[in-house]
Amino acid sequence: MLKIAVLVSGGGTNLQALIDAQNNGKLPGGVLSLVISSKKDAYALERAKKAGIPTKVLLRRDYATQQDYDEALLALLDQNQIGLIILAGFMTIISETVIRRYENQIINIHPSLIPSFCGPGYYGLKVHEAALRRGVKVTGATVHFVNEVCDGGPIILQKAVEILPGDTPETLQRRVMEQAEWQLLPKAAALFCQGRILVQDGQTIIKEE
Ligand code: GAR
Repeated sequence: MLKIAVLVSGGGTNLQALIDAQNNGKLPGGVLSLVISSKKDAYALERAKKAGIPTKVLLRRDYATQQDYDEALLALLDQNQIGLIILAGFMTIISETVIRRYENQIINIHPSLIPSFCGPGYYGLKVHEAALRRGVKVTGATVHFVNEVCDGGPIILQKAVEILPGDTPETLQRRVMEQAEWQLLPKAAALFCQGRILVQDGQTIIKEE
């Protein structure tokens, strides 16, 4: 079984989607083994505890340098023999040191159709505010591998979601989560755990079952 660490900072609805998938036998080959939070009071920690998954709070401000923080994070991942890292609403930047150590083993969920509304400064509600401001008719979510370019790694899965008249950032965020994120993230995790995602020339190829 491939051990999975989920990194969170907030409500943890994407973590919940992963927990539900595991409970329904939809995460074959993988096991949720550790939840790391960048915030002490993240509700995601409660979800992990209820599901019996070990948790750890790792605060950047508790470490004098980025290198010290990286070492603490890497030690935690090593000790737990983690084979897949999932960023599920994790709001702390992962440094190149960690990315290089886990090349093509870190996946992130982003609440837009990359390359729209992504990159530095685009996270959480800000993404949906930008989509509404631009007046696009379709948005969605993307699961991708994490590389050294913010939101720039190989795309694994995407799903489109309609924007409706009268949408607010909040209603749009909820629809994108319900119709895209909570489906895509467990699906991508399962594909990874089954060894079905190949990376070639900056793109992914999904192997048939
Ligand atoms: C999700 O919408 C996720 O796509 C987004 O944060 C939210 C976390 O919600 N991530 C980003 O914006 C990353 N750039 P959750 O804590 O309920 O899963």
